[in-house]
Amino acid sequence: MSFKPLRKAVFPVGGLGTRFLPATKAMPKEMLPVVDRPLIQYAVDEAIEAGIEQMIFVTGRGKSAIEDHFDIAYELETTMTSRGKSLEVLDATRLKPGSIAYVRQQEPMGLGHAVWCARDIVGDEPFAVLLADDFMMGQPGCLKQMVDAYNKVGGNLICAEIVPDDQTHRYGIITPGAADGALTEVKGLVEKPAPGTAPSNLSVIGRYILQPEVMRVLEGQGKGAGGEIQLTDAMAQMIEGQPFHGVTFAGTRYDCGDKAGFIQANLAVALQREDIGSAVREFAIKTLG
Ligand code: G1P
Repeated sequence: MSFKPLRKAVFPVGGLGTRFLPATKAMPKEMLPVVDRPLIQYAVDEAIEAGIEQMIFVTGRGKSAIEDHFDIAYELETTMTSRGKSLEVLDATRLKPGSIAYVRQQEPMGLGHAVWCARDIVGDEPFAVLLADDFMMGQPGCLKQMVDAYNKVGGNLICAEIVPDDQTHRYGIITPGAADGALTEVKGLVEKPAPGTAPSNLSVIGRYILQPEVMRVLEGQGKGAGGEIQLTDAMAQMIEGQPFHGVTFAGTRYDCGDKAGFIQANLAVALQREDIGSAVREFAIKTLG
């Protein structure tokens, strides 16, 4: 079957990043590097790999480093060129002119509100949402795997992962229906259920493919868990009318919104790198004994 192609992706990057203070006092958490690339760069690369043509950043105050990152740095580039240094290392930061749009979320009112802020740029098209602090390592990338699934089943898709029982209160949780390979039917969704009340331990991970109707649901969405306007609550209302599936990612997720997860991601990437892998491995073995 053929479904309306997915061309746009929303990157909510307005969050305060309080879990990483003081590092994130003057720097957006999405600019924290995994080895030498900021988290947001990995998410954008993942979107491009999945065929996304337009990146929509929902930003906030103090996030201008993200805009600068995806712009030309004249002074830097002129100096590097005059010193005979290659600019290749900056290639990924240069996207096609006009392919990034920025919209400001004036107040941090929740993920659902952030996504809704992008409604006019998204228009009447399906769109992806990528949360940069869910760092997804695998090949093909997570969104590409989801797009492949979308081309088969259409509708709405979320990345799904089993989490330990004592962590369900930190996630959107799925009431699962029938499973078929990497796809699981989504029968219900609840955001951050109180400990002991989760319908399963299948959680929502920060990759989504959504139909534009969710914007109309978000328009009237009241506050949910944590007093915020939740994307999960709006998605829950889409289940009746449209196909809705969870996709199990063939790869590894690192929760880079969490310090331990962030360090693990750095280690995992460092160990795979040709330039530093052996030095890091040697150090790790020596340190761990
Ligand atoms: C958000 C979503 C949640 C999802 C999580 C994945 O929560 O609201 O449903 O499970 O991302 O990382 P947050 O981590 O922003 O609190």
